[in-house]
Amino acid sequence: MRHVFWTVLLSVIAFAVTPTEIRSQNLPYKDPSLPVEDRVEDLLGRMTLREKVMQTVQRTYGKNTNINNIEKEVKAVDPTVGSLIYRSTSPELYNEIQRRAMQETRLGIPILCGFDAIHGFRTVFPIPLAQSCSWNPELVRLSCRVAASEAASSGVKWTFSPMVDVARDSRWGRVSEGYGEDPYLNTIMGIAAIKGYQGSDLSDPSAVAACLKHYVGYSMSEGGRDYQYTNISAQTLWETFMPPFEAGVKAGAATVMCAFNDMNGVPASANPYTLTEVLKKQWAHDGFVVSDWNSVEQLIAQGVAADDREACLKAFTAGVDMDMVDDIYFDHLEKLIEEGEIPVGMLDEAVRRILRLKFRLGLFEAPYVDERPEQERFLQPESIDLARRLAAESMVLLKNENEVLPIASDVKRIAVIGPMAEERAAVNGSWEGYGKPEDVTPLLDCIREKFGDRLEIDFVRGCGFDGDDRSNFDAALQVAVKADLVILCLGEKREWSGENGSRSVLELPDIQEELALYLGEADVPLIFVLSSGRPLALANVEPVAAAIIQMWQPGSQGGFALADILAGDVNPSGKLSISFPWSTGQQPVYYNVRRSARPKMGHYKDIPRTPLYPFGHGLSYTSFTYGKATCSADLVRIGEKICIEVPVTNTGKRDGMETVLWFVSDPVASISRPEKELKYFEKKLVRQGDTEIFRFEIDPERDLSFVDDKGNRHLETGEFYVLVGSQRVEFQLAD
Ligand code: GLC
Repeated sequence: MRHVFWTVLLSVIAFAVTPTEIRSQNLPYKDPSLPVEDRVEDLLGRMTLREKVMQTVQRTYGKNTNINNIEKEVKAVDPTVGSLIYRSTSPELYNEIQRRAMQETRLGIPILCGFDAIHGFRTVFPIPLAQSCSWNPELVRLSCRVAASEAASSGVKWTFSPMVDVARDSRWGRVSEGYGEDPYLNTIMGIAAIKGYQGSDLSDPSAVAACLKHYVGYSMSEGGRDYQYTNISAQTLWETFMPPFEAGVKAGAATVMCAFNDMNGVPASANPYTLTEVLKKQWAHDGFVVSDWNSVEQLIAQGVAADDREACLKAFTAGVDMDMVDDIYFDHLEKLIEEGEIPVGMLDEAVRRILRLKFRLGLFEAPYVDERPEQERFLQPESIDLARRLAAESMVLLKNENEVLPIASDVKRIAVIGPMAEERAAVNGSWEGYGKPEDVTPLLDCIREKFGDRLEIDFVRGCGFDGDDRSNFDAALQVAVKADLVILCLGEKREWSGENGSRSVLELPDIQEELALYLGEADVPLIFVLSSGRPLALANVEPVAAAIIQMWQPGSQGGFALADILAGDVNPSGKLSISFPWSTGQQPVYYNVRRSARPKMGHYKDIPRTPLYPFGHGLSYTSFTYGKATCSADLVRIGEKICIEVPVTNTGKRDGMETVLWFVSDPVASISRPEKELKYFEKKLVRQGDTEIFRFEIDPERDLSFVDDKGNRHLETGEFYVLVGSQRVEFQLAD
């Protein structure tokens, strides 16, 4: 009742005040002492139809940096627009734009500026796929805090991140932007990112609004070809792709971005079920949905809209509240409402959601940012240290024959070979924000800095990333045969992964494979250092590698982190969050597969049935022995909990961090269940010779249930297994 009273009262007052007096008045929507909802209603009640429509319009400002979204540089701003993709690090420029919105428009509604701070804004952290291999959500949260602080200092109060698209086909270039193949890991990392970006108070000057994307099912683009059709059963949708979004919404993600893909015949940008029925009604999301770039207009290409007008009608009525850059809402929304095709109440609800976030961000009270120099805002020492630490924890030691790593003290000469050794852009990866190649110290220089005073270091490039120039092979072999070990730096160019970065082959380019095999002829240990935005198919070259470090695209401090690992100053602790296939043909390959009618049959005859390196694989310079896993009971009743413990002993020669992954397996249920599902993990330091107890407290409702094709959760009694390390613990669930 109080809410209604205020709304009626404020509406009466609203129309009693003439527009010219509005800016000078302390009207209710400008009163920070009032509840946000009352301020929203007061402002909404004062807005014209056009002003409301403009809040649903997102445009850009500045020079576009995403080569997949072609547009000319934009220098003009309509101050009544709801949002800008703001491409500048200048607080002065931002304030100038915002001052126009606050002072030249009738109601003084601030513009919400967004940007793709995906793995950093100016300080570049490892790509999200790499971050997920750290299994360290706290470091992910901290990296997002840095990104938020750097973004917010430039006027960007909204990032289009985290991407929580569970990915199973590494031909899809955007596997680089998510947190791997598992729903639970994507959920945990997505929540960590949201907390990092948003902090505990959105109005904090260093907080930014998060944006869960791409909602939903985008990663199932057929054949890994970006933007393509996705065919996803309703049960798989709920079991695999919805959980990170549902958890992210419940963790308070301020916004959601709908995806490009068509799912089962309905584009994600015009899907009333996912956007309104589930997101806004079932999950009670009170933020707003922004389209992806041009994804409203693209409904025409997807064959569900005959023209812009119909695209506008379909996207808006499905639940897309804000239109990213194609101006479809700008051109058609007002007329559709005037013609009665769209009820004004639906527009009010969209604008309500947008205004709510602007009030929560404190943009009405603090629309401007301090005009500080970049050296005070970016690349702070603690940010650099964090970037180096997260990069080191993200790297995965895939192979280490005869403990050839870390580089031993009797090694006197090394050869650094390969196109990645001098690379900068690729090390930052795609979506590098304002990270600059010159911020990156190439691997070769980092190795020289780390080892130059005690080792002879030769460098020969050997070959390019691709092409067929073998003219440098012999020079590479000559330095290899003189060396005690070779560090062979290979991988992908920056643009080979990320958006629109689909590849039909996951093997390294022929020239790189040939160089590796050519050097394999020399009797010297080869240490592969691989930088890529996706898993690579390494079966052709793995046999000649004594060791393999997957360093991913580790960001501007990646080279230093790699040198720390090569020297043993850091003990690698990364584990794969996505499977490495034997070959491209094995795609898609992932651990939580459904059970098969003939588990031992039907697999490819020309390669093993398992991936070359499975989900969860990652070596350490020490060794961990898992003791016997014990269960607090053999039977647990619905409503109770059960606890399983496993002692882990560091049996090696140095301290190390170990991540224990806990999987659940339901051997018999009313629908077929995956062979196993990750339900919990924990990463801890285990000092040399010590034993740490890792514990998983099972909540049957959360951990043993499954969802049906409507998202309803089912818990069925019977036998369950918990898999930890190489052990299986069995117990019964009873009523
Ligand atoms: C892109 C991407 C999306 C990004 C948006 C804005 O096409 O699909 O992830 O946030 O456009 O740059």
